[in-house]
Amino acid sequence: MSVAKPLPHDAAALHVTGRARYVDDIPAPRGTLSLAFGLSDTAHGRIVQLDLDAVRAAPGVVDVFTAADLPHANDVSPAAHDEPLLADGTVHYVGQPIFCVVADSHLAARRAARRAVVAIEPLPAILTIDEALAADSRFEDGPLTWTKGDVDAALSHAPHILEGRIEMGGQEHFYLEGQAAFALPQENGDMLVHASSQHPTEIQHKVAEALGLPMHGVRVEVRRMGGGFGGKESQGNALAVACAIAAMRTGRPCRMRYDRDDDMTITGKRHDFRIDYRVGYDDAGRMLAVDFTQYTRCGWAQDLSLAIADRAMLHADSSYHLTDARITSHRLKTNTQSATAYRGFGGPQGMLAMERVVDQIAHALGRDPLEVRRANFYAAEGAPGYPQTTPYHMAVEDFVLDRIVDELVESSGYHARRAAIAEWNATNPLLKKGIALTPVKFGISFTLTHLNQAGALVHVYQDGSIAMNHGGTEMGQGLFQKVAQVAAQGFGVPVETVRITATDTAKVPNTSATAASSGSDLNGMAVKAACDTIRDRMAAHLASEHQADPASVRFAEGMVHVGGESMTFAEAAWRCYTARVSLSATGFYKTPGIEWDRIRGTGRPFFYFAYGAAVTEVVIDTLSGENRILRTDILHDAGASLNPALDIGQVEGGYVQGAGWLTTEELVWDDKGRLRTHAPSTYKIPACSDRPPVFNVALWSQGHNRSDTIYRSKAVGEPPFMLGISALLALSDAVAACGPAYPALDAPATPERVLMAVIRQRDSGG
Ligand code: MTE
Ligand code: MOS
Repeated sequence: MSVAKPLPHDAAALHVTGRARYVDDIPAPRGTLSLAFGLSDTAHGRIVQLDLDAVRAAPGVVDVFTAADLPHANDVSPAAHDEPLLADGTVHYVGQPIFCVVADSHLAARRAARRAVVAIEPLPAILTIDEALAADSRFEDGPLTWTKGDVDAALSHAPHILEGRIEMGGQEHFYLEGQAAFALPQENGDMLVHASSQHPTEIQHKVAEALGLPMHGVRVEVRRMGGGFGGKESQGNALAVACAIAAMRTGRPCRMRYDRDDDMTITGKRHDFRIDYRVGYDDAGRMLAVDFTQYTRCGWAQDLSLAIADRAMLHADSSYHLTDARITSHRLKTNTQSATAYRGFGGPQGMLAMERVVDQIAHALGRDPLEVRRANFYAAEGAPGYPQTTPYHMAVEDFVLDRIVDELVESSGYHARRAAIAEWNATNPLLKKGIALTPVKFGISFTLTHLNQAGALVHVYQDGSIAMNHGGTEMGQGLFQKVAQVAAQGFGVPVETVRITATDTAKVPNTSATAASSGSDLNGMAVKAACDTIRDRMAAHLASEHQADPASVRFAEGMVHVGGESMTFAEAAWRCYTARVSLSATGFYKTPGIEWDRIRGTGRPFFYFAYGAAVTEVVIDTLSGENRILRTDILHDAGASLNPALDIGQVEGGYVQGAGWLTTEELVWDDKGRLRTHAPSTYKIPACSDRPPVFNVALWSQGHNRSDTIYRSKAVGEPPFMLGISALLALSDAVAACGPAYPALDAPATPERVLMAVIRQRDSGG
């Protein structure tokens, strides 16, 4: 078996020895030029003067262009056509590109860009959620509301009502490799683009539009990204298009990379949210009615915000069954970076509000939050009421959290540790500990249904070696290795026989972004289909030589067995080649059974759900607010894992990134709309030393996908991110030990915020 093996990442040795090639490492032909953007320093305004003479005269400068010089489309948006590559008369945020400098080095281009004389007449800028609401500045005509049951009636009958608000910050992707692109002009006006992108087809599409070419005139290649995390779904379009334009204008290869400050200033981040809630519940903590109002700051352009806000609504239930629910979503337009995809794609924000609600109900009732969680879980198969429906009327048929949580409670010693923490807190006035167990249920599929398709191209060469290509991109998650294991499995050969090749729009067309955690689900199936086609052809031919049944031909352990004869896979390939059997095939896959009405909020947007649960224990210093994670235990359902080593890596990384979002990573804009946290000196991502000193991570041994996915595995890229919610609620639990009130801790729970919460808590009469 090749699948299910815990093989290392195919490029692990290259990664750790610095030999893995990223876009900016590609050896450049002589004469290659570098690009830099000149940026807006104003959040909103009209450009009244743009004098670029000094830029043109700067050392090393070869070309400078503005919106007026663009020959065709001036648009790098993924869908809404509202995002010019270069500002055309009006600027909409601090950091918006206004002009582009092309010079003989990266430094020369950056230096020259600073020489511009730009005058901007300010217009009123909308920066905050409150300002956007006051100005009714939003995408779509008004808020979107989905309902199930009769919330107002259910609220009026509920024994207890609770109201509140949670604010949660955005998040910088902080991929280690920044945004980068490299365009090489080809004969006859065609263009080759290397990009650090999760979405090569979109780069191809936008470059073709900008150059006035059909898509066949542009080829985009992506070998790998040094991290994407959603930040390279759409945010790389600008660099690729700028390089292609510059390459067309100069006839020379052109490359661009953002330096870290520019990257943080220019590109979009996770959406920050405010969520108001009103909830009715009974004495057992069962929720009877839930009314959520989600406000999200989308920034200046639409980008992927509608789908992200939809996914926040789709995860407002978290893991809990609601008979009566109303979810309202405001997608607010502000003069800030255009917020974009980030691991979880709105799901984490939607879920966090619900986890806060459950925690607060438990506090009000004086119960263990875990009891309240369990009291509200969806019914599992065989339990009364199964299957129950989500607020968007989809039946939850694969619920397994009751079992996962039982195992995790046991393996983590949850109850004993909770008791020990209570004892600790009773005797320690300064250091307080907290613990929280939170579940994850995350819907798998693109909610834009047509994106749930993938293609693959597989070649078997006459020596038996195999080259495999598909539309998915590699960003560190291990997709290529998992899919290579699928191909190896198909031919019964060791995985080393399979060569993984760069994603290339000329090999597999019309691909979706590698996103929504669906990379291995979609591309794994497409590759399997291609392999099955070739294997069936080989089997048919080899069987015919022996007058055997093609179904009797076996491919296993590098050998092919047919009619009593055994040969190596290489011999079989050679025999088929000389018999003129085609050894190349495409494969295609589309996810079955999903359809969805996003305006009404009904249907089956997801093929299945991924599940997991985490217990986090923390300690806070009540004098400074400083805090640490002491221990984390995770049990995560990756179905029948394609590669447990890579999947555990995803779970660990996802958790740490999720905990970072909710604890140390704080984005701060000033009242001029300038992002003040635009470098690692002011923006704190988790370091190795911040990972839990005790970190017990396991894949659920019972994992099995009820839905017919590739070898019954489950997507694992995003779901573990939301396990990090347990870190925030553990901090909240520690703060709660300082007084009688409910801490209502907002995110990120930085030391300052924890300290203020402790002070409020003490003031509440502790
Ligand atoms: N893991 C690493 N190492 N680097 C990344 O950029 N991106 C995440 C996740 N895990 C990411 C990662 C995001 S946002 C998604 S959607 C998935 O990987 C995409 O890959 P998959 O669909 O193959 O899981
Ligand atoms: Mo992931 S946010 O879907 O790229």
